[in-house]
Amino acid sequence: MNIQFSEEKLNKVKEIIARYPEGKQKSALLPLLHLAQDEFGGWLDVPVMDYVAELLQLKPIEVYEVATFYTMFNTKPVGKYLLEVCKTGPCMLNGSDDIIKYIEEKLGIKPGETTPDGMFTLKPAECLGACGYAPMMQLGKFYKEHLTKEKIDALIDECREGKAKIN
Ligand code: FES
Repeated sequence: MNIQFSEEKLNKVKEIIARYPEGKQKSALLPLLHLAQDEFGGWLDVPVMDYVAELLQLKPIEVYEVATFYTMFNTKPVGKYLLEVCKTGPCMLNGSDDIIKYIEEKLGIKPGETTPDGMFTLKPAECLGACGYAPMMQLGKFYKEHLTKEKIDALIDECREGKAKIN
């Protein structure tokens, strides 16, 4: 895989770096990691992190530390549909454990695993800031709220039919 941003994305990289004072390019690390994750298959492989380090003139370890700290970055391959189910207090009190268990049984995967067809990854997440809509999950760029088993069934069907929006 050729690890190189498109021309358009490279312009975006320059624009992001220019937001910060000279010598403070490390501040651009989070947005660049998001950009890289979107561009290179939904996860951050080591060569991708090395590429980001090179763009920001950082040591690779500085990038690895950040990428492995934040749960919104994936450091191993994920399925086309990443089901990030919040498991923090308010969601847990409203049944997120049951939702996670239901997805596990329905898809035959454990948290952190991907279905063999590469379609779904189940990823328990920490509070996603939508506690009032508990239990909830993030699918791509969208929140799915007040989850029930019926809503999960419908959502998984939509994904299988290619109708679920993720971007
Ligand atoms: Fe689930 Fe906050 S606890 S969104």
